[in-house]
Amino acid sequence: MMKRNGNEKVIVYDTTLRDGEQSPGASMNIKEKLEVAKQLLRLNVDAIEAGFPIASPGDFEAVKLISSEIKGPVISGLARSLSKDIDAAYEALKKAKRKRIHVFLATSKIHMKYKLKKAGEEILSQAVDAVRYAKKMCDDIEFSPEDASRTEPEFLARVVEAVIKAGATTVNIPDTVGYAIPMEFGSLIKYLFAHVESIDKAVVSVHCHNDLGLAVANSLEAVVNGARQVECTINGIGERAGNCSLEEIVMGIKTRGDIFKCRTGVNTTEIMKASRLITRVTGIVVQPNKAIVGENAFAHEAGIHQDGVLKERKTYEIMSPHDVGVDKSKLVLGKHSGRHAFKERVKELGFDLGDSDVEKAFERFKILCDKKKAVYDDDLVAIVNDEIAEVREVFKLHTLDISYKTGSIPEVNVILDKEKRKISRRSSGDGPVDAIYKAIDKITKINGLLLDYNIRSVTSGKDAIGEVLVRVDFGKGRIINGRGASTDVVEASAKAYLNAVNKLISSRVSVKTGRLI
Ligand code: KIV
Ligand code: ZN
Repeated sequence: MMKRNGNEKVIVYDTTLRDGEQSPGASMNIKEKLEVAKQLLRLNVDAIEAGFPIASPGDFEAVKLISSEIKGPVISGLARSLSKDIDAAYEALKKAKRKRIHVFLATSKIHMKYKLKKAGEEILSQAVDAVRYAKKMCDDIEFSPEDASRTEPEFLARVVEAVIKAGATTVNIPDTVGYAIPMEFGSLIKYLFAHVESIDKAVVSVHCHNDLGLAVANSLEAVVNGARQVECTINGIGERAGNCSLEEIVMGIKTRGDIFKCRTGVNTTEIMKASRLITRVTGIVVQPNKAIVGENAFAHEAGIHQDGVLKERKTYEIMSPHDVGVDKSKLVLGKHSGRHAFKERVKELGFDLGDSDVEKAFERFKILCDKKKAVYDDDLVAIVNDEIAEVREVFKLHTLDISYKTGSIPEVNVILDKEKRKISRRSSGDGPVDAIYKAIDKITKINGLLLDYNIRSVTSGKDAIGEVLVRVDFGKGRIINGRGASTDVVEASAKAYLNAVNKLISSRVSVKTGRLI
């Protein structure tokens, strides 16, 4: 293992716009690329690989635009070890204040034999020539021996030595096909430090792919063995299974500073925004359980965990959500949740319930959890409103008069009792139930939006009693359940809706705010 002074900087070289864009289906237009580059600037990465200028006119223009617009990080352009590629990269990078030409050439036997059809010595001199050629235009040159992790270590050391002598300021060791295993990859970096005489004259970088899910682990092992640049992408996007994920390597180094004794310059609070931006522009959605930026990365469902987090966040969280730009940890309410989390969430929703109300609401919540996969805040509001409302029958159904023929628009006349008065209103609607609800709204002067309507028979037989359950949104978070029963299902529907209206009126829920008063 390398000797450490402690707190050494690891350069973060972001290749979202180059290798990341090589993710199948991830192509971005020039406007989107500039937007991403601006976010990378806010993240404070050290270098941005903006594209592969010879690859297409679009790539060329994007590198050119980013070079002239983004000041701060090094802007890098990729080139094969060919003069026409290097010329194109330089042309595109010309306006960059700090520019880097990144030259690569494969060095593994399999690539040299089948892809390049060249012998080792030819490859060695092509690499040196390319670096020398690029060096005439630009001081900052990175060289990558492609497929380094499958290259003979002795040959790799010779190539690295030669390109540093030719002027490379960064030597990047790619695990191009994601084949390496951490211990092995770390040993390769250690080997290069031991066998390349001029290694101290260049920064050793690593570029790991994720085919075995080891890109971050391999990169970290390389850092332990002396690498001081990591190449990575937001959300780990990239060719095939992707690249080392920026958020994971940066937070790994930050969270386990005790092990790595290194730091990056990344402003981690911009991580979440960067992740969401990449999802938006590429259409590649992050899996919910993805480390750092997944929807569930700071979510707790188990009752024991929720209770622990509420008592002391660090019981189940090794990073603060604020550090990566997430507002706060999330307690997901589901069937594994306990009373503590339930009470907290209900409190956050604006209700201050006594112990017995909490108990009753919690019981109903558990029953609902068995029926539904996800319980949303709306469900909780409905449960709590139900529990706290002592229903006064302000409006009572007196008469329903319906005229309805198949194919025609139903017309209804609804008469309600309100205290000692009878109020009637007519309405039409998409169906008889819709028409009735509209007439009720006219009488009560309260508008409800029907969120859910369920009908079931409570008893058996043709004259069975039908029970209708509705969930109505009265606006401002006032979501209330209603229930009505009758042998006439249309009448049961009217009663269920009126039940919700009466609950709203009787509840201690503010008509203004929707919260408990
Ligand atoms: O994976 C790889 O080898 C590359 C090089 C061009 C650095 O992307
Ligand atoms: Zn790559």
